[in-house]
Amino acid sequence: MSSLTLDVETTSTQRHKRLAQWVAECAQLCTPERVHWCDGSSGEYQAMMRLMILSGTAIPLSEDKRPNSILVRSSPADVARVEDRTFICARTQEEAGPTNNWEDPAKMKDKLKRLYSGAMAGRTMFVIPYSMGPIGSPIAKIGVEITDSPYVVANMHIMARVGSRVLEVLGEDGEFVRGLHSVGDPLGPSDQDSAWPNNAKEKYICHFPETREIWSYGSGYGGNALLGKKCHALRIASVQARDEGWMAEHMLILKMTNPAGRVKYITGAFPSACGKTNLAMLIPTIPGWKVETVGDDIAWMKFGPDGRLYAINPEHGFFGVAPGTSMKSNRNAMLTAARNSIFTNCAITPEGDIWWEGMTAEKPAEMVDWLRRPWTPGSGRKPAHPNARFTTPAGQCPVIAPEWEDPNGVPIDAILFGGRRAGIVPLVTEAFSWQHGTFLGATASSETTAAAAGKVGQLRRDPMAMLPFCGYHMGDYFAHYLKIGARPGAKLPKMYYVNWFRTDDHGKLLWPGYGENSRVLKWVFERCDNNVQAVDTPIGRLPGPADLDTNGLDLPAASLARLLSVDVEGWLAEVPLIREHFAKFGSHLPDGLNREVDELEARLRKAKK
Ligand code: GTP
Ligand code: SPV
Ligand code: MN
Repeated sequence: MSSLTLDVETTSTQRHKRLAQWVAECAQLCTPERVHWCDGSSGEYQAMMRLMILSGTAIPLSEDKRPNSILVRSSPADVARVEDRTFICARTQEEAGPTNNWEDPAKMKDKLKRLYSGAMAGRTMFVIPYSMGPIGSPIAKIGVEITDSPYVVANMHIMARVGSRVLEVLGEDGEFVRGLHSVGDPLGPSDQDSAWPNNAKEKYICHFPETREIWSYGSGYGGNALLGKKCHALRIASVQARDEGWMAEHMLILKMTNPAGRVKYITGAFPSACGKTNLAMLIPTIPGWKVETVGDDIAWMKFGPDGRLYAINPEHGFFGVAPGTSMKSNRNAMLTAARNSIFTNCAITPEGDIWWEGMTAEKPAEMVDWLRRPWTPGSGRKPAHPNARFTTPAGQCPVIAPEWEDPNGVPIDAILFGGRRAGIVPLVTEAFSWQHGTFLGATASSETTAAAAGKVGQLRRDPMAMLPFCGYHMGDYFAHYLKIGARPGAKLPKMYYVNWFRTDDHGKLLWPGYGENSRVLKWVFERCDNNVQAVDTPIGRLPGPADLDTNGLDLPAASLARLLSVDVEGWLAEVPLIREHFAKFGSHLPDGLNREVDELEARLRKAKK
């Protein structure tokens, strides 16, 4: 620490009494060696990088290859969100609903207080004031994260707006979400710190929606530890949104411009590692069309005075899936992460650059893998972890939309739902109505990915891609969607269901995806203006093969037909599964969704005749 200058302020210098008191209480409980109030300066960011390098957490990358960037390798026991250790501690289990883990708030706090007791011994406690959304904007929300992880501080610098300017907005008595985070790995006086401190035995990611608190213990990774992101901007915010009449969604936001210069804004809710970042930054393969990025993971949507839904991206950076990202698949993400970035669980080349599966056509001859072992192509292992990530400033994205920080947000024309489904689900389906769209979102299903600990490739229902992120009863969340749709004077976005992942009988992807998804976006765009046809089917409206722009696309007609086909028998077999899924929500399931499943079944039976 000797070469680092960290200003250690005392809590008593803070103007916000409740904040100062809470910080003092946390310090008393966790007994850190020192307390540092983060100012958000670039000097502070550099100090965090140096700290991580000195402690062996990070290695600097080559200044020629990746300026001002580091590689961090986590412990193999701490590589993704831990859904089975994530709790919504609402007053009652009923309020948390059947899709969330629940514990009584007082009991959970007792248990966690025992764990937090002395948990920061030998470490610095950092206090990070952050704003989700542009600082001072009427729709932004403030939080303060207390953490003992310099990695978290550095990531929060990129992912949110942090520091003294947030404290200024908070003033003497502003409201804020309280987030306490510890890696749960205290240091004794003679202990040598590990490269990735965490608690291998106990992890808890707990939310207290009534008191707007987050208590996270034992993990230092991603959504478990960067509390502004999933914990605040989705789980806590979804509760606030329900109470205040807006929406906090796991959605990308993109801007699409047609050759005539007309603009539409589209959001998309796909589960973790199912294509949001890629869609948000895609380079259209259809001439004259343009896509720009507003956000890649989270959207907060509120009604404007004109009755339209306006979306802001509450984040300030991208925490993106690394494997599969290349100049070919996502050029814009590669260019964004060219500098000033943190790479986690990637491999490192002898030249001091990072590498992951699919980054380049040819694999480097030798590397050090994410487990710090020498790697050669013959090793028979993947050099990067499948949930390896880059943390990179959104402002560096070459196609960031100029209005991405507009505090008023952008008016949404269409909402996409989706997931990974090898079978049955067509390339794109338009909802008949907002209620039908809510039904499509509520029945969304997808194969699990490496973004969360557990098995990969298991098919599960992931309503609106919010299964791991909804901070209250999912049935009430569906009802909130219907309430939004029933608002008098609302000019609602159209809704769609997309699936880039349908396969043929041999398990080969039928759709090329990535930039070619612009063809589907074009159809959606033109549907919003009623400029292109759709065919009514029992499951919704689909493009006919001629309605989709396939100019220049090398796709067999049979594949296209399959992608746009509705398998009536297959869908009839889905109906009881949908009913089973809905039955979980009991009396909280809104009637409108029960009617939708009845009507779907009736339409399918009619089509079968
Ligand atoms: P989170 O950050 O976890 O929320 O993920 P995300 O939804 O932003 O997913 P992302 O865009 O990072 O994509 C995840 C993985 O899916 C990457 O390996 C991509 O290469 C792959 N992927 C993205 N879009 C497509 C697509 O259109 N087709 C196919 N086949 N794969 C895709
Ligand atoms: C996701 O899992 O949806 C992510 C990554 O965006 S994390 O921040 O870890 O939640
Ligand atoms: Mn995500």
